[in-house]
Amino acid sequence: MFNLKKYYKVDAWQVIEEGFDKDYNRVTESIMSLGNGHMGLRGNFAEKYSGDSLQGTYIAGVYYPDKTIVGWWKNGYPEYFAKIANATNFIGIDLKIDDTVIDLNQVEFSSFKRVLNMKEAYLKRSFIVNINNQELEIIEKRFLNQKNKEIAAINYSIKALSGKHKLELKPYLDGNVKNEDANYGDFFWKGEEEINNEQQSLLSMKTKKSNFKVSTAMKWEVNKEYQELKKIKEKNYIADIITLKIEKGETVELKKYIALCTSRDYKKDLVNDQALEKVKSAAADGYQKLFAEHKKAWAKIWQESDIKIEGDLEAQQGIRFNIFHLNQTYTGHDPRLNIGPKGFTGEKYGGLTYWDTEAYCLPFYLATHSQEVAKNLLIYRYKHLEKAIENADKLGLKGALYPMVTINGEECHNEWEITFEEIHRNGAIAHAIKDYIDYTGDQEYIKDYGFEVLAEISRFWADRAHFNPRKDKYMIIGVTGPNEYENNINNNWYTNKIAVWTLKYTLENKEYLKNNYPERYQELVDKLQLSEEDYQLWQDMIEKMYYPYLDDYDIYAQQDGYLDKEQKLVSDLKEEDIPLHKNWSWDKILRSPYIKQADVLQGVYYFEDEFDQASMERHFDFYEPRTVHESSLSPCIYSIIAAEIGRKEKAYQLYLRTARLDLDNYNYDTDDGLHITSMAGTWMSIVKGFAGYEVKDSQLQFRPFLPKAWESYDFMIIFRGRRIKVEVNKEKIIFELEAGKKLTLKVYAEEYQLSAEQKLIIEK
Ligand code: BGC
Repeated sequence: MFNLKKYYKVDAWQVIEEGFDKDYNRVTESIMSLGNGHMGLRGNFAEKYSGDSLQGTYIAGVYYPDKTIVGWWKNGYPEYFAKIANATNFIGIDLKIDDTVIDLNQVEFSSFKRVLNMKEAYLKRSFIVNINNQELEIIEKRFLNQKNKEIAAINYSIKALSGKHKLELKPYLDGNVKNEDANYGDFFWKGEEEINNEQQSLLSMKTKKSNFKVSTAMKWEVNKEYQELKKIKEKNYIADIITLKIEKGETVELKKYIALCTSRDYKKDLVNDQALEKVKSAAADGYQKLFAEHKKAWAKIWQESDIKIEGDLEAQQGIRFNIFHLNQTYTGHDPRLNIGPKGFTGEKYGGLTYWDTEAYCLPFYLATHSQEVAKNLLIYRYKHLEKAIENADKLGLKGALYPMVTINGEECHNEWEITFEEIHRNGAIAHAIKDYIDYTGDQEYIKDYGFEVLAEISRFWADRAHFNPRKDKYMIIGVTGPNEYENNINNNWYTNKIAVWTLKYTLENKEYLKNNYPERYQELVDKLQLSEEDYQLWQDMIEKMYYPYLDDYDIYAQQDGYLDKEQKLVSDLKEEDIPLHKNWSWDKILRSPYIKQADVLQGVYYFEDEFDQASMERHFDFYEPRTVHESSLSPCIYSIIAAEIGRKEKAYQLYLRTARLDLDNYNYDTDDGLHITSMAGTWMSIVKGFAGYEVKDSQLQFRPFLPKAWESYDFMIIFRGRRIKVEVNKEKIIFELEAGKKLTLKVYAEEYQLSAEQKLIIEK
């Protein structure tokens, strides 16, 4: 187990590794990942490295359907688990100095430094190698262009600090890359074409079964005349071996340009030409120009989504790290894409879409990007509606059941207790429609897309629930709630609640459509074959849904029988028990009362208007001491509720668990990749929790407080064409309208006007 929590140097804009710990390399590779929404890379070395490493290059939307692996097949299981295919390694530049292969697992080196610069989104690595008692300094800098997303560039330089040397530099493209998580060890790719001549260098690969063609073209330039150039072309591999001489004081600089194009964006027979053309123009522009446009694109991202914290550098680094990786993972430029829990930083979770997107990421994208970005996240699900209907049908149910895990709309998850039972995910997808419309005011969304999704989800709930005449109630049995530490339970309050909420919201929108767009409404009724019986059933379920309740505590029960379990608290656990999922048998976990992540509290968070302060407190006080937060999605929700009920210190403590989760490798699993989706939860803890921001009745509202440890914090909100800066310090709350029309907003229930002419300053 790693015990290196404070491994990286603390800095407001950078993550710095000084000195190289080989045993921690996988964690650092995750931390130092780069991405631009189109592709992503782990923080691997350009030159050969024979030590422990996960070489990772991932291209958004390019997946392989890996045949499902299960012990005991059950009807309804999906045939495959899609996995984002680990793609052509394009950063590779092997280096030989005086016939010694530079491999940091083999050679002597010093002054190692690997730095992730978050402000300008590049990775820089430097070290000094000692070859036959002579020293050379090597510096590598790379970025994935945020503006021109198919382009990457690497600047690799070698400076002789002493002696005369022969250098052999070998920029290459290697398609012989395997996914570490392949179920059957399959190689996911077929080689299509290798071109390597004086004019062009390109490697083209195609994923097996899914047939995505990925063409990677390379060009390079070197600042010094070389002795020899050898061109290599092998199966799924091309390389150029450049031989040159260097002596003390001289620097050799190799610039490698990459263009990566796929058949997702171009017709198959055009992909090669596109890549070749793009790399040519990138090389003609040159590293500096490409970097300048990349930097500019990132400056805009930071202008719209930065959070500044004064007085706590660790917190500052933590929140920027989260915002940085969210923006690297998803940029909203393509509605076919989504946000994998690990983004491009590892293979766990296959790079696929979970309910995390709607429940956690959507609020971040709504408030920090243009409306189109959030809309694209919704359209993604709209486009998968047919598949969700097929998915429900496969289980013998009506309506739409969105998958737990997907890339193209088809379910990939293959554990019955989750695939078939963790159906609350459907509710988050419906709720995202409300969140989007409330935030943007884009009512049209309902008529164009939203209603179809809502109606089919409602239809699913209506079929999945059953009426229990003995109790005169509807029930939903055999489910798994957000708390995955218990399965096959009956009447998970959260599931029943979000099901009824969906039914209500759908009926409300039915009325809205009927009154405002009667023709479109009729068209939808015909298309979806909705009838009065459907509506009546939904109404009946709304009125007669059963909600488990704990009378002794005056709170909702997580599920039927929760209180029959032996009631122990997290404070009763020993240190060696934690995390439970690593130290206890699954059976012991299932029998225990411990809650993996926000479950009832997820409902309190969604439907907080239905709880008064005292009731919220009772729910928090009962569930928080029983929750182990073994999903990274959990502490942020508790932190927001703690803030809501005025437990400022507790809110801050819970926030700390999320903010530096990966930087300090809290859960000992950052080697698998970063917790991208929960990073949005960290953002929520500050903006929704500490600043108490929400949109109610089309109005922005705030109820800010400042954590004791901080001097101040500020953040941006993009709201209906406006950009608003909010600063909270010890004495004041300051609002500034940086762009867009004036508005009225509420702070601690008082209304204020905010216009471009004047800052709004509220004394605390
Ligand atoms: C959580 C799920 C989540 C998934 C992906 C699991 O550990 O329990 O709620 O969707 O991780 O982040």
